[in-house]
Amino acid sequence: MNIESIDYTTKIPNNVNLAEDRQVLRALESWHPGYIDWWMEMGPEGFQQALVYLRTAVSVDPKGWAKFDYVKMPEYRWGILLAPKEEDRKIPFGHHYGEPAWQDVPGEYRAMLRRLVVIQGDTEPASVEQQRHLGKTAPSLYDLRNVFQVNVEEGRHLWAMVYILQKYFGRDGREEAAELLQRRSGSADKPRMLGAFNEATPDWLSFYMFTFFTDRDGKMQLESLAQSGFDPLSRTCRFMLTEEAHHMFVGETGVGRTIQRTCEAMKAAGIEDPYDIERVRKLGVIDLPTIQKKLNLHYSLSLDLFGSEVSTNAANAFNASLKGRFQETKIEDDHRLEHSIYPVLKLVDGEIKRVDEPALTAVNMRLRDDYTADCQRGLDRWNKVIGRTGVNFKLELPHVGFHRQIGEFKDVKITPAGVIVDEGTWNRDIGKWLPSKDDGDFIVSLMQPVSEPGKFADWIAPPRIGIDNKPGDFEYVRIAA
Ligand SMILES: [Fe+2]
Ligand SMILES: [Fe+2]
Repeated sequence: MNIESIDYTTKIPNNVNLAEDRQVLRALESWHPGYIDWWMEMGPEGFQQALVYLRTAVSVDPKGWAKFDYVKMPEYRWGILLAPKEEDRKIPFGHHYGEPAWQDVPGEYRAMLRRLVVIQGDTEPASVEQQRHLGKTAPSLYDLRNVFQVNVEEGRHLWAMVYILQKYFGRDGREEAAELLQRRSGSADKPRMLGAFNEATPDWLSFYMFTFFTDRDGKMQLESLAQSGFDPLSRTCRFMLTEEAHHMFVGETGVGRTIQRTCEAMKAAGIEDPYDIERVRKLGVIDLPTIQKKLNLHYSLSLDLFGSEVSTNAANAFNASLKGRFQETKIEDDHRLEHSIYPVLKLVDGEIKRVDEPALTAVNMRLRDDYTADCQRGLDRWNKVIGRTGVNFKLELPHVGFHRQIGEFKDVKITPAGVIVDEGTWNRDIGKWLPSKDDGDFIVSLMQPVSEPGKFADWIAPPRIGIDNKPGDFEYVRIAA
């Protein structure tokens, strides 16, 4: 079988020759009904019968890998798709640097590897759960289609991790796969594993911020797992990244279009002061200071996903050649990090200081720095949108110590500008930095659904181009009667 072609004759589309891998096929087929039950219960509410113009992967060739068509979401062909095998791939980092990549799980690292796969796997269905109510308030059919595309692909990412668990981890892999369908975002007794994936996504601005900031954390995690010495994990993550690019796009353009509409409305109404919040809100658009607050919230929640700045777990995973750095193969160093250092922001005697730490224990910090740089590029583009309209306002990433629950700064209060403050000041000013209940209520009040093809809610600008080059009035979702 051609490695780039996908077998759609089995119930589970795949390019891993499942037809001849009977045991794994059986395991996946017995997991399938539970997955569909989960999708029906926790997937997009109210739209399971709608026909959605979705892309489905038909190849793992980066050029032309997807085809678009109308699909009912429960009938989406979730498949097992690995990027093509690189012949003679060598492990690019860690203790096993330079050795041939592993095709089987190395026994000594089995538990660590399984944990990495389970944590990644847990985030995928979590975001579907978080976003399941959004369909009812979509600002257009275009946006409605986009959230559903993200949802079905997160579902496929769950399949991707479940395949790894079931193929390579035997009975405990099957148990973990079953549990991935049991935890629920936000649940008190069986929550998802990571904090940001238990937060609510109450409105569309939250959704765009989530796809910009939290899916971008996902991208960074996938990038570092794509470097893994365990080749099947590397290959599966490489293909997931192909899909992930669209999620980044949805987030960045979603926020960008929101900003654009706000600025245009301000200009048209002759409002010069972005902080004249009452007048701006009367125009039915989201004021820029509130957008900044939403950004502060989602950025800080996402930073927590990188774990502690200094971490022996992270060092162990790097040393074991299981989880590398962002673009590991492009970095010019020894890829072992046994003797190198990396600067880490820490709290030293009540002050925020940069301290040199062994690079090995600072790999989380490094990944997070790469993430911050990637976020900043997006903000620069948003600021250009603002700049083009002539409004005088600039969005900024808050200090990395702001509003943290994990790591160096979890026990202190730090302002977005990076100043340590006491509890009293924090409580007094928090409403300037994070969205208040009133801010949330205002945003929710704008979330009136628009379902006429080519029409958009008043708080958001239309996109510049359609999905799959479709015209502006294309009916991206045919909502069932
Ligand atoms: Fe994903
Ligand atoms: Fe994603």
